[in-house]
Amino acid sequence: MILSGRVVNISRTRIDFGFNALDNLHKMLLSQEYRKSRIFILVDPNTGKHCLPVLAKACPGLDSASVFEIEGEETSKSLVTAQKIWIELLAAQADRQSLLINLGGGVVTDMGGFVAAGLKRGIAYINIPTSLMGMVDAAIGGKTGVNLHNLKNQVGFFHSPSAIFIDPRFLKTLPEVHLRSGFAEVIKSALVGDPVLWRKILGKGASTILALETSDKFWQDMILKTVVFKNRICCQDFREKKLRKILNFGHTIGHALESLSMATDQNTLLHGDAVALGMIAETWLSHMKAGLSETEAIGIISFLRAGYQAQADVVKDSFKITGSSYDSIYDLLLHDKKNKDGQILFTLLQAAGKPRVSMRAGREEIVSALDKLFE
Ligand SMILES: NC(=O)c1ccc[n+]([C@@H]2O[C@H](COP(=O)([O-])OP(=O)(O)OC[C@H]3O[C@@H](n4cnc5c(N)ncnc54)[C@H](O)[C@@H]3O)[C@@H](O)[C@H]2O)c1
Repeated sequence: MILSGRVVNISRTRIDFGFNALDNLHKMLLSQEYRKSRIFILVDPNTGKHCLPVLAKACPGLDSASVFEIEGEETSKSLVTAQKIWIELLAAQADRQSLLINLGGGVVTDMGGFVAAGLKRGIAYINIPTSLMGMVDAAIGGKTGVNLHNLKNQVGFFHSPSAIFIDPRFLKTLPEVHLRSGFAEVIKSALVGDPVLWRKILGKGASTILALETSDKFWQDMILKTVVFKNRICCQDFREKKLRKILNFGHTIGHALESLSMATDQNTLLHGDAVALGMIAETWLSHMKAGLSETEAIGIISFLRAGYQAQADVVKDSFKITGSSYDSIYDLLLHDKKNKDGQILFTLLQAAGKPRVSMRAGREEIVSALDKLFE
């Protein structure tokens, strides 16, 4: 892994982080390995507008690359979109030596990685994440996938990118709501793996952090620490046999809420917002099931409420949380990919920095956690 030109760690994927990341990409594309590759770039309308010109300026040779644009909404992360890109790639003579560059947030990198994994049994791809969610999470670790029937990431492959280039300057044009969404994964990462960072984040407060410029040292440190953490965990347990499951804190209930939102007309809940709400509920489950002290649980929940209460209220209003909506959430939980033998499994916290994986919880406990979330 290279951080601002410094080699920090050897991993299966090269990661460049810093303001010269795109210069390093330029050098890489000129190397023997890629000089003859046919290059394709995947964008969505926003990254095509705001990020593609930045990439083109840093890597002049990319002028001749073919650019494909997807709609870029969560609902476009589908087999239909994948098929469309595959057909376009074949029409443009893509072969096994071709290289796909994914320039965008998690939707583009999940989708592009999936397309690369499937085309001709796997072509190489590079991720250039442009959203906070992409930088600290989605672009790292080789999980690719699409949604199916409003269920999140049901079809996918583990297929590592050849390299990841993270230039935090892309965040300048990222809308605030997506910064807030990506911040949820930073919080999660600190809660499961970096108690020192968590205390710093807790001390500063969600609203203060979200109001800071992303060029602020506080943001840069948080992002870098989260990138290094995610990469370390994925290197140690690429296929999520055990350790990588710690990254799922907040995601069991979070994914159910997100799927429920996708099935409604409003479809307003962003992935990170759903994870933040999932963390509120799963923090309370952690108190009930994993020995998290009440004081620490309330501290975490209050912090998350300060950043995400409005999203909880929107969900509460739009889903009209009643006994029957809890039924829909429970049904979705029964589809969670992590389930085993029909049991719903959670990653919970014994304390900040002490995650416990594959914890079972029964229906009544889940209902109590949802009551806490929507109280
Ligand atoms: N594979 C993984 O390990 C993993 C991990 C976490 C999340 N995810 C997935 O990531 C997705 C969410 O990612 P996301 O939050 O990045 O969503 P996203 O890709 O939809 O991006 C959010 C929005 O920001 C815009 N955008 C992105 N970068 C921009 C920039 N620099 N300037 C202006 N606009 C910009 C996009 O066009 C989009 O409208 C979900 O599908 C989630 O399941 C995957």
